[in-house]
Amino acid sequence: MENSQELTKQIRELAREKNAIILAHNYQIPEVQDLADLTGDSLALSIQASKTDADIIVFCGVHFMAEAASIVCPDKKVIIPVKDAGCAMADMLTADQLRQFKEQHPGVPVVTYVNSSAEVKAESDICCTSANAIQVVKWTKSPQVIMTPDRNLAAWVSLHTDQTIHAWNGYCPIHDELSVEAVKKAIKEHPNAVLMAHPECPRAVLELAHVVRSTSGMLKYAAESSHKEYIVATEIGLLHPLAKQNPGKKFYPASPDMICQDMKKTGLKDILKALEKEEPVVKVEEEIRKRAYKAVERMMQVPRD
Ligand code: 13P
Ligand code: SF4
Repeated sequence: MENSQELTKQIRELAREKNAIILAHNYQIPEVQDLADLTGDSLALSIQASKTDADIIVFCGVHFMAEAASIVCPDKKVIIPVKDAGCAMADMLTADQLRQFKEQHPGVPVVTYVNSSAEVKAESDICCTSANAIQVVKWTKSPQVIMTPDRNLAAWVSLHTDQTIHAWNGYCPIHDELSVEAVKKAIKEHPNAVLMAHPECPRAVLELAHVVRSTSGMLKYAAESSHKEYIVATEIGLLHPLAKQNPGKKFYPASPDMICQDMKKTGLKDILKALEKEEPVVKVEEEIRKRAYKAVERMMQVPRD
């Protein structure tokens, strides 16, 4: 504890000296979330990255998130403390595969989840996050839409629109493997709890959920709701801010197995080292960045409910 307090102090001092901002995704380990200037879901962090006047962005999350920061802030140095922190879902679709998929559906707009590489975003018409996917798909006003890379997010969106969705067959292993049995067991153990699920969960799980939200959407719901108990069907990192922000309420994981190892790779020592050395840097190549930016920028213009 002593050590982690000392490390936190050193990081904060160095961040101030270097005019660096530290962003952390809601799945990061508690010490990292507590240290960060800002925590949030992918959408909130992308917006924040675009607005900051810091010279350096330290992105505590996975690679596609740091790339997203580089896409919206080309003049800033974006650092990811652990270079190989990746996203299994983002790795399920390459730009070549997307080009081929587009050929199968000519003229159909491509909506790509932010959990994707910059190259895939560059091949897309518009991005979405779990917080705005339904609004984005409706906003296209197209009778047919390609959605990549998450088949579960696509299936969930298709329940809320009449548009035909052609989904890429990607998924997040952590959410996709959550079984109905595990969820029913949690419900049996906590019969009064509200079930909150992330749209990356399989449809059968989402059908049991009371609310389907992004990670920040769950935080907002729990803060505003009068319910006292919640089962949380997403990566267990979210339990930390949920408990911290809602002292009188109880939160239970839908399954203790929902751990994204890549999100847990970043520790305080990694952040300190990365800030000292100002590396590893994530920089999206300019030609790709410009095209990817258009897709992200369009997403930012879609009104939220
Ligand atoms: P959110 O955008 O809801 O934070 O989700 C990101 C993610 O990686 C989910 O697995
Ligand atoms: Fe990717 Fe899943 Fe990890 Fe989110 S939880 S970063 S979607 S592998």
